[in-house]
Amino acid sequence: MAKNTLSFVCQNCGAAYNRWQGKCESCGEWNTLAEEDATGSIPVSIRSKRKGRTFALESLAGKTQDAPRLSSGMTEFDRVTGGGFVRGSVLLVGGDPGIGKSTLLTQATSLMARAGHRIVYISGEEAIAQVRLRAERLGLSDAPVQLAAETSVEDIVSTLSEGAVPRLIVIDSIQTMWTDTVESAPGTVTQVRASAQALIRFAKKTGAAIILVGHVTKDGQIAGPRVVEHMVDAVLSFEGEGSQQFRILRAVKNRFGPTDEIGVFEMTGLGLREVTNPSELFLSERDLGTPGTAVFAGIEGTRPLLVELQALVAPTSLGTPRRAVVGWDPSRLSMVLAVLEAHCGVKLSGHDVYLNVAGGLRIHEPAADLAAAAALVSSLVNAQLPTDAVYFGEISLSGVVRPVAQTPARLKEAAKLGFQRAVLPESARGEAGGDAGLTLNAINSLTTLVAEIAARGSRRGESNAPAEKNATPARFRRGEG
Ligand code: TYD
Ligand code: MG
Repeated sequence: MAKNTLSFVCQNCGAAYNRWQGKCESCGEWNTLAEEDATGSIPVSIRSKRKGRTFALESLAGKTQDAPRLSSGMTEFDRVTGGGFVRGSVLLVGGDPGIGKSTLLTQATSLMARAGHRIVYISGEEAIAQVRLRAERLGLSDAPVQLAAETSVEDIVSTLSEGAVPRLIVIDSIQTMWTDTVESAPGTVTQVRASAQALIRFAKKTGAAIILVGHVTKDGQIAGPRVVEHMVDAVLSFEGEGSQQFRILRAVKNRFGPTDEIGVFEMTGLGLREVTNPSELFLSERDLGTPGTAVFAGIEGTRPLLVELQALVAPTSLGTPRRAVVGWDPSRLSMVLAVLEAHCGVKLSGHDVYLNVAGGLRIHEPAADLAAAAALVSSLVNAQLPTDAVYFGEISLSGVVRPVAQTPARLKEAAKLGFQRAVLPESARGEAGGDAGLTLNAINSLTTLVAEIAARGSRRGESNAPAEKNATPARFRRGEG
């Protein structure tokens, strides 16, 4: 009975209900239910009449050729995909409007097409002229990319089924695609899901790799197609602050590679430039003369990354002091503040606290605890930290500084960029080895760090010493090494 096929589908998470209601019980969003044909992409006639065919069952041990990867021509892009695009795989690239998704994909497809592959770029959002204009601006007009402005999935599939199978197809964006098999309007969850299904089927059948571009909603979800996220092989997110030049490509899910690698790009007037040494970029505009900044030696994926943490601790005029954090986890900030209060006697309840990760980067590692604590205390006591030091270590609730992974890689990167010393967990000293080229200040408890910074503050007050900016590295080592 095909009578009861209309239902109400949440446009945020895809949950279906058989009557309208104001709030989606599945994801908690309001006003997201819309009436849709809930049968999905398989027409009723096929569902009811189709007789199953038989297929051969395979063993796990069979010979499958190793999936040859298609390099994007951009090292930073390949790093995130795990070495290039796998045959027949489907990737979703999400990001805010205007962040540079079309620019990134125009550049990558042009490079691949120049390398002799058949590459197709389908734009559902922009007219051919607009895409050409972008390519011209990027100096890529001569690349033999095959271009079309189309939105019908059936038309796209029939067109691409002719001739040689394309190595890669870009669909910009999945939200603009629609298929005849469902009746909902383009952009609805049902349409997006059905269109994605049809394209995924095409990819698996022909071996062409497909990149779907997806828009992101205000709360950072890839709009509607959360349903698409679990259908595709990889989900990449393209992030950045609108005002900053840096763009970060991050793998959120990847069936063929790591999920913790990032690719770093800089948006210039001539498109995206790959940044091969991100530490230099994130430290390029350091303000060396102010208290409240500490350099964190972090790891993103397999790559060390140095980044500056900036803190401002100021007396509050409010009943409840403000705590604001950009680029780090607010609950980790609360934890570090609580440990400082409880174990180190640092009173912060009368202060507003702001913490910022410079350059628009987002840090996910607990190893940043120590650098955050150093920046906070430095701002509170108005004592500048040594400008040639890096910090890393996780802080436990009892105030102990705990070891973190990949100590040697962090130290090596710091030494490479001219840093002279590292403040790190006591228990990581052995792992560090003696050849790091840095003076190691291994600490066991957060109290030690707070005492050291406070001592700098009072020393500075007494002698009215000049800012550390002028200090030579040698002086540092004699003083405290
Ligand atoms: P776009 O790739 O169209 O973003 P998306 O596809 O994610 O919506 O990029 C749009 C922005 O990038 C736009 O604000 C202009 C800027 N831009 C540059 O700064 N330099 C360039 O070379 C190009 C092509 C775009
Ligand atoms: Mg675009």
